[in-house]
Amino acid sequence: MLEKINAMMAEIEALKASNADEIEALRIKYLSKKGEITGLMAEFRNVAADQKREIGQKLNALKAAATERIEALKAEYQSEDHIDTNIDLTRPAYPDEVGTRHPLSLVRQEIVDIFARMGFSIAEGPEVEDDWHVYGALNFADDHPARDMQDTFFVQRDPIVVLRSHTSSVQVRVMNQQKPPIRVVCPGRVYRNEAISARAHCFFHQVEGLYIDKDVSFADLKQVLHQFAVEMFGPNTQIRLRPSYFPFTEPSAEMDVSCTLCGGKGCSMCKGAGWLEIMGCGMVDPNVLEASGIDPKEYTGYAFGMGVERIANLKYRVKDLRLFSENDKRFLNEFAAAH
Ligand code: PHE
Repeated sequence: MLEKINAMMAEIEALKASNADEIEALRIKYLSKKGEITGLMAEFRNVAADQKREIGQKLNALKAAATERIEALKAEYQSEDHIDTNIDLTRPAYPDEVGTRHPLSLVRQEIVDIFARMGFSIAEGPEVEDDWHVYGALNFADDHPARDMQDTFFVQRDPIVVLRSHTSSVQVRVMNQQKPPIRVVCPGRVYRNEAISARAHCFFHQVEGLYIDKDVSFADLKQVLHQFAVEMFGPNTQIRLRPSYFPFTEPSAEMDVSCTLCGGKGCSMCKGAGWLEIMGCGMVDPNVLEASGIDPKEYTGYAFGMGVERIANLKYRVKDLRLFSENDKRFLNEFAAAH
């Protein structure tokens, strides 16, 4: 036994290897479960009692030496001396492509920043919602045609779970959790069951806003939206508000901005009208305040909501909505300079 150990010790001290596979083979040969040193360890059981001490020490030393030698070979192999010289160091490198922010992220951020400067904070909420937050609390009657009009994606029928069709659902969450004054913008993705075309998609992004306090008036709404339009589209931008209808606001309006291309004279972009529709807005319906436990006799509020894609289209003149979700790098790279 002693002889075997001594012989193996000499072998180990002389070990050589020229690549990682050979080193691994040596580790298996000596140190694995079926390896030679492990084998000697098993034989140790049969060693006579008076030799156990000496042989035990030698065996341990052998194992330590083998482990150390193999580690040393690994370290040596990984050091610079063993760089694979077959690599062509003159070959051109793979270009390191750096991404750009998505145009919708840029525009959403721009919208949110404008409102943040006017004192709005950001609120976010889930995309999968219950009926109450998307419709019920927003004064939609049970059989209201708007529920079809918005062509909702249903996740579950009973109880109803939907993909939110507007981020007004986040405003409901905020009203349920906070006391006035409330001043938030709610950016997020929304879903509508529409056929995908250049002008419609089954999902898009919105930024909606809500302000509730004492004595909030339609004039406040108008001023904030005018300020937004000017900051977003330039100092000469004009706005106009046309009467409209939403279940959750009364009175309601659509807001147009003077055409960002012709300035109002009439062109192909505004189809000769001089105006472009960009958002819905209005005074929060008292029923909506009440549904969220806010006293409509004490508080009033306004709300507005716009599509981020729509704003981006007008700002960057993107003609086909589908470009925003196709991840074509030629399109995305056009926004590299817009950071
Ligand atoms: N929630 C409306 C929509 O998605 C937009 C809107 C928000 C209108 C707030 C008025 C007030 O179409």
